[in-house]
Amino acid sequence: MEQKEQWGSRSGFILAAVGSAIGLGNIWRYPYVVYENGGGAFLLPYLIALFTAAIPILLMEYAIGHKKRGSAPLSYKRLSDRFEWIGWWQVLVSFVIITYYMVIIGWAASYTYFSMGTQWGDDTQSFFLSQYLNVGEDFWSFGGIQWQILIPVILVWALVYWVLHRGVNRGIELASKILMPLLIVLLIIFTIRAITLPGAMDGLDVLFTPDFSKMLNTDVWFAAYGQVFFSLSLGAGIMITYSSYLKKKSDLANSGMIAGLANSGFEFLAAIAVFGALGFLAVQQNVAVTEVVSSGPMLAFVVFPNIINAFPSLNSLFGVLFFGTLVFAGFTSAVSLLEPGISAFKEKMNISRKAAVNWICGLGLLVSIAYTTRSGLSLLDIVDNFVNKFGILFSALVAMILIGWVGKQLNPLRDHINSVSDIQVGKWWIVMLKFISPLILSYILISGTISEINEPYGDGGYPISALSIFGYGLVIALIIGAFLLQMKKWPPIQSSDEKERHKHGA
Ligand code: PHE
Repeated sequence: MEQKEQWGSRSGFILAAVGSAIGLGNIWRYPYVVYENGGGAFLLPYLIALFTAAIPILLMEYAIGHKKRGSAPLSYKRLSDRFEWIGWWQVLVSFVIITYYMVIIGWAASYTYFSMGTQWGDDTQSFFLSQYLNVGEDFWSFGGIQWQILIPVILVWALVYWVLHRGVNRGIELASKILMPLLIVLLIIFTIRAITLPGAMDGLDVLFTPDFSKMLNTDVWFAAYGQVFFSLSLGAGIMITYSSYLKKKSDLANSGMIAGLANSGFEFLAAIAVFGALGFLAVQQNVAVTEVVSSGPMLAFVVFPNIINAFPSLNSLFGVLFFGTLVFAGFTSAVSLLEPGISAFKEKMNISRKAAVNWICGLGLLVSIAYTTRSGLSLLDIVDNFVNKFGILFSALVAMILIGWVGKQLNPLRDHINSVSDIQVGKWWIVMLKFISPLILSYILISGTISEINEPYGDGGYPISALSIFGYGLVIALIIGAFLLQMKKWPPIQSSDEKERHKHGA
C-alpha cells in the first residue's frame, strides 16, 4: 500500500484549489452569462449564490475530504455506508466534463498557433465553423475524426497525463505554482490593453448597466447558481479529493475564503477585459456592442479573433497572449477534473496511482475523440448544458440533503472545520446548508426542468433524439453508474475503519 499523498504546503493546496476554480468558465462563460442575465443586476443573484450556497458547500467539501481522508466515494462512504454512490456520481460528472473540456483546450492550443500571423483571416466565423471544426449538416452522421482537432487534443492530453503521473506534490502542486502567478500576470496585461482601447468604456457600460426586470426570472437564478458552482469546481468531487491530501492540521475556513474570493476576483477582471475589448470591436465595426456579444465557443473563437484582427498593433502577440491564457487557465482545471477519478479508482481497485492515471487518462482520451468529429461542437454544447445543470447542481443538492437531513453530519463537520481553522464558522453555515440553499436550489431545479421540457435546449437546433440521449439519457446513466460502482466490494484495507487506516501510515 502506498502512503497517502500530501501537498507540500498549505499555499500549494490553495494554489491548486484556485487553479481548479479558475478555468475556461471564468474567461468565456462568466462575461457572457453576466451580460445575458441582467448585466450589473446579475451581481445580486451571483453574490447570493456565492455566499448562501457556493462558499458553504466549498467548506463542506473541504471538511468531508479533510476529515475522512479519502477520494469522494470513500469519504462519503465513511460518512455513511449509504452515501458512497453520491461520491461516484460526482466522480462521473467530473469525468464527463473532462472529456469535452480537454477538446476546448485543444482548440485554444490550435488558436494560439493560428494567432501567429492571424491565420484565421477576415471571416473568423467561417474559419472556425467550416475550416477548423468542419461542422457537418446532420448531427447523427458525425462524419469522421477531424485530425486538425484531434492532434492538438492528444498533445494537451499528453501534457496533462505527464503532470498527473508525477503525482500530487511534484505534479499538480508544482504546475499550479508555476501557472497561477503567470496566469494572473497575463490577465492583468490583457485587461490593461483592453480597457485602454478606444470604445472600451461603451463595452463596460453594456456589461454593467443593470436590468432589474430580469431579477424575477428564475432562469437568471439558475444561471447564477450554475455559473458559481461550475466556476468554483463544486459538486464534482474535486474539492473533497484535494482536501484529502492536506496535512491533518490545516486551516480550512481561511483557505476556502481565499479560494472563493480569488476565483470571483479573476472572473470579474476577465469580464472587464472581455467587455472592454467588445466595446472596441463595436466601435471599429460601427455597430452596437449588443451586436458583437456572443457566448461560449463563439465568443472565444469567432469574436476574439475578430478583435485581434482589429488591434492597432502587435496583433499576433495579443492573439498568442489571449489564447495562451485560455490554455493555461484550462490546464490546471483539467488536471483537477481528472484527479477525483484517479484517486477513487486507485482506492477501489487497489492499484497504484500510476496505473490509475493510465486507466483514467486513456479512457478519457478515447471518449474525447467523439468531440473531434464533425458533430463535436453540437455534442459538446448539449453535454455541457445538461451536465452542468443536472449533474453539478443536482448532485450538490442531493449531497446537502443527505448530509444535513439523513446523515445529520453538519454539526460534526462544522466542529471539524472549527477545530483546525482560525476563523470560526458560525451557526449560519448550518442554516445555509440545511435550509436556505436546498430550498432555493430545489426551486430552481424544478422550474428549470419544466422550462427545459417546454423549450428544448438549443432553440430547435438539435434533434430531440440527441437531447434525449446525450442530455437526459446521460444524466440518468451517471446516476445508475454511480449505484453500480457502489455495489462493487472494497479491497480490505479501505473498508477497515478509519483509525485502523491511520495506523497504516495515512
Ligand atoms: N472551474 C473550472 C472552470 O471554471 C472548471 C471546472 C468546472 C472544474 C466544473 C470542475 C467542475 O472552468
